[in-house]
Amino acid sequence: MNAPAEIIKVLASKPEAVLGYKSFTLGSFGFRRDEYFAHISWKTRDGRPLSHTMDIGNFLRALMRDVGWGFFYGGVNFDPVIGTVNHYKSVDLYAGAYNGTMKEAGVDLLENFPTDQIRATFEQMLDDWTNAGFDPFAAPLETGSPYGRKNGNNIPAITRARELATRCVGLKGDLALRTDERGTRINRAFADVPQDHPELHPEPGFENEVHAFNLFAFLSRSQVTWNPSFTSVVKYSYMCPTTEEHILPILHANDRVEWFFQMCDEISWDCADKTTGKPLARVIMKAGDMACMPAYCRHQGYSPKRSMLLVWENGSPNLVYEIQKGETPEVPVKF
Ligand code: PHB
Ligand code: FE
Repeated sequence: MNAPAEIIKVLASKPEAVLGYKSFTLGSFGFRRDEYFAHISWKTRDGRPLSHTMDIGNFLRALMRDVGWGFFYGGVNFDPVIGTVNHYKSVDLYAGAYNGTMKEAGVDLLENFPTDQIRATFEQMLDDWTNAGFDPFAAPLETGSPYGRKNGNNIPAITRARELATRCVGLKGDLALRTDERGTRINRAFADVPQDHPELHPEPGFENEVHAFNLFAFLSRSQVTWNPSFTSVVKYSYMCPTTEEHILPILHANDRVEWFFQMCDEISWDCADKTTGKPLARVIMKAGDMACMPAYCRHQGYSPKRSMLLVWENGSPNLVYEIQKGETPEVPVKF
């Protein structure tokens, strides 16, 4: 349950006189934006001031995922320096803590915040820093520019509800199919995807139990990129397909095993050790390929053309603790 709004205090400055953006403070971290960049500042453990700079488009695309996904499973690295780790009731915010070189140099900082506090700060930062015409969920070719001075906002884009089926897309009372009428038109890259529906012949009385839908057609109408929805849920087995174009805006550090099925086109993945960032593997996935990301890795995908990816998650709330205690393996299979 969210805490009442009045006890969550977001530390924001007045808009800066020339560029028009607010600055934010969360614990020992400072956040500031200018026309091109987000600047994050903190103090090292021995009191020296440090800062880190990210392209503002990359920063907002990552911030959007972190906010939109409620801090996701495990670690959301905005880049090799800053990010968050979800502990499901609280969230770590860090700089350099999962970067082997910075950790060794002692210039890292990690602080833990109640989820409501970091969420409120991130939501306000995302709202203030996202200009009219820029959609952080859209592919770069399908949105305007994130750069420049403060120019309005884009509340509909940054407050989209995540599409989460309870049982299955298209079932009565569940997540609806995507249609032209609902404003979910077929993406330019998927003009050739058949839009027919499967035939269903349930016995009387089983109309709400026997079900099927055209997943390719559903995905061809996705308006966003790198934003898995839930299309079917069986206990903790979540089918999370998504359409991908350009770069996954975060380096995701799993806290559990995660499966990928490349449903069309191609994505290449850079995989690294999730604690140090040391490169581990490059995985080139072509249509029909399946891969499993072990719980000890972080990964970032590159999709040159809009493609369809099925992410399969085990959403068990106990899994992360079973892995920490060594009761559940970090890999899908041991040979
Ligand atoms: C992932 O981190 O595994 C991930 C996240 C979003 C996507 C695809 C994969 O769209
Ligand atoms: Fe992942």
